[in-house]
Amino acid sequence: MVEKKWVEKGYVDEPIPADIDIKAEIRRMCKEKNAVIMAHYYTEGEVQDIADFIGDSLALAQKAAQTDADIIVMCGVHFMGETNKILCPQKKVLVPDLNASCSLAESCPADEFAKFVADHPDHTVISYVNTTAATKAVTDIVVTSSNARQIVESLPKDTPIIFGPDQNLGGYINSITGRNMLLWHGGCHVHEKFSLEKILELKAQHPGAKILVHPECKGPVVKVADKVGSTAALLSYSINDEATEFIVATESGILHEMQKAAPQKTFIPAPPSDGTCACNECNYMKLITLKKLYNTLKHEWPTIEVDPEVAQKAIRPINRMLEMSK
Ligand code: 13P
Ligand code: SF4
Repeated sequence: MVEKKWVEKGYVDEPIPADIDIKAEIRRMCKEKNAVIMAHYYTEGEVQDIADFIGDSLALAQKAAQTDADIIVMCGVHFMGETNKILCPQKKVLVPDLNASCSLAESCPADEFAKFVADHPDHTVISYVNTTAATKAVTDIVVTSSNARQIVESLPKDTPIIFGPDQNLGGYINSITGRNMLLWHGGCHVHEKFSLEKILELKAQHPGAKILVHPECKGPVVKVADKVGSTAALLSYSINDEATEFIVATESGILHEMQKAAPQKTFIPAPPSDGTCACNECNYMKLITLKKLYNTLKHEWPTIEVDPEVAQKAIRPINRMLEMSK
């Protein structure tokens, strides 16, 4: 029974019994309920450690499309849960805290984007996966930072394209493909905050360090990168490159997996331009805690629901992406 105060809060706010081993209980409930835990690299380290699968946005969508679990617990932000629900409408999809939004998805209200699309009827509409289901419903092809370049380049050179909502990713893809896609002016409040000045200061202190940058960062930060890529691409580069030090300009949760995969290497989080903190965190991703994960599995709530009419339209561009990414 879901309590009214939980509905108001957007998550189950129930104390964890003092005498339980929370991690063992989470694993036990997963087995009992045939549930799978998926986590994005930006969540807390202890959430990543208990997940069945950790990945970037593309890998999480691909995994959801293949799973035979009855319940998917998406430890990530709301649009990731929506994508899973659209791909698996018959399954129960849980996100441990409904407040886990995404500033980038919010920067593209579906009604305004639909008007922008209607004003350019001859354009192919490409949307980043960081969008709501309603925005995806007016999209032709969804992309992630892993496959955006490949998908854009697969379209004939003269295809007029709308790209939304991330103007930094769109600008970066324009610059490496020579396209002139029409950009929606949205952005991520975490990635837009990285300071070029502070990254260059770190580079001066660590001249041998390679700079790793997510393409949601602003152009000047992307320009100084040794590697630009999705979270999974940056992780794999940091493992395979011969450098032993890396300055990492993306949400700092990724450092957990980097450090685990290459314990002998040093990973330095790039700081934001404001404040004094040394790393840059997504406040939405950090809402997903072990306690909320336990409670969401126990009560099988909050569930993610997508309007069937919206889902029917949104699944086409998602499936197109999955097809084009094989
Ligand atoms: P990735 O697709 O690289 O995992 O990025 C997701 C995201 O939210 C970046 O801010
Ligand atoms: Fe959204 Fe930015 Fe958080 Fe990624 S880091 S989930 S784009 S707000």
